[in-house]
Amino acid sequence: MPKAKSSLPETTDRRITALVTLLAENATIIISGTRIAREIGVSRSTVWRWVQRLRELGVRAKGHPRTGYYLEKVPDLLTPDMLKTRLKGSIFGRHIHHYLKVDSTNRVAMELGYSNVPEGAVVLAEEQTAGRGRAGRAWHSERGTGIYVTLLLRPKISPVQAPLLTMMAGLSARAAIQAQTGLTLDLKWPNDLMLNGKKLGGILTEMHAEPAQVRFVIVGIGVNANQEKFPAELSSIATSLRAQTSRSISRMELLVRLLREFETDYNRFLRDGAASVTQRFESVSSYARGKRVIVSNAAETYAGVTAGLSPEGLLRVERESGSIVTVIAGDVREAS
Ligand code: BTN
Repeated sequence: MPKAKSSLPETTDRRITALVTLLAENATIIISGTRIAREIGVSRSTVWRWVQRLRELGVRAKGHPRTGYYLEKVPDLLTPDMLKTRLKGSIFGRHIHHYLKVDSTNRVAMELGYSNVPEGAVVLAEEQTAGRGRAGRAWHSERGTGIYVTLLLRPKISPVQAPLLTMMAGLSARAAIQAQTGLTLDLKWPNDLMLNGKKLGGILTEMHAEPAQVRFVIVGIGVNANQEKFPAELSSIATSLRAQTSRSISRMELLVRLLREFETDYNRFLRDGAASVTQRFESVSSYARGKRVIVSNAAETYAGVTAGLSPEGLLRVERESGSIVTVIAGDVREAS
């Protein structure tokens, strides 16, 4: 049932992104507060407030109201204007909803889904205050360091096929990261991006469906790009591209690659069906076959060895008794 009342937050004021663009186009040149105020159509005190806000996001804007402002370095903000230019011709370049701070891009994308927003809408945030992870967990979403993006899709598939989109998104993210950094990720069924045994990112797919037909699916992707450290409870299990390479990663570049890969994979999935995902997933994931794992779900915890994927993308596990079970829900971890 569609929701009666929408609680969509306001997206980033386009004038803030216009301020970033103006400064970026004139990088290293001091522009007076008066000129910025005139070109963007706000007061000088608003310009000052926004510059301070941008600084909090890591934008290296120098100067103050008396002298004017300049950028020390072009910022790695995921502004819709720049993204749209880079995504010309893509379904993901049409409706981009950007937030400096939002509770969860998945939450917002669900609202857009109910509001009949077309397929391809992208929800992006520089920071999430209530990022959602799998199984009701929180997703740590530090400001300006990770990629927090959710895509709205309206595929004509049955609900049982929707989890394949999670695995597909993992393949797209893996390819994008490999192309940009040369690093090879492992994929842990169904939704974990792993690097050197630690979690680099994750995917959370949610949907609204009738019994036989999906109404819409949202695919939320989180990638740890430039985090330098994690909270104590995550530090032994999480990693970032920066932590692994000692280099800072262009989030804009990575996001563009990710969305392009995703679009290609999505079209292939719609055309060729589930096997286009399951076969590729099996060929790149060390978890798909022959891995000793512990599976825990609400009812039990058991050990076994992975034995490939079912045609719907569910993981098969051979239990110690010799019986083969299909994991529908639950956590899978490598047995030590
Ligand atoms: C997981 O591995 O537990 C899934 C993590 C998914 C995180 C992303 S970040 C963007 C999107 N918005 C959310 O609230 N969650 C997903």
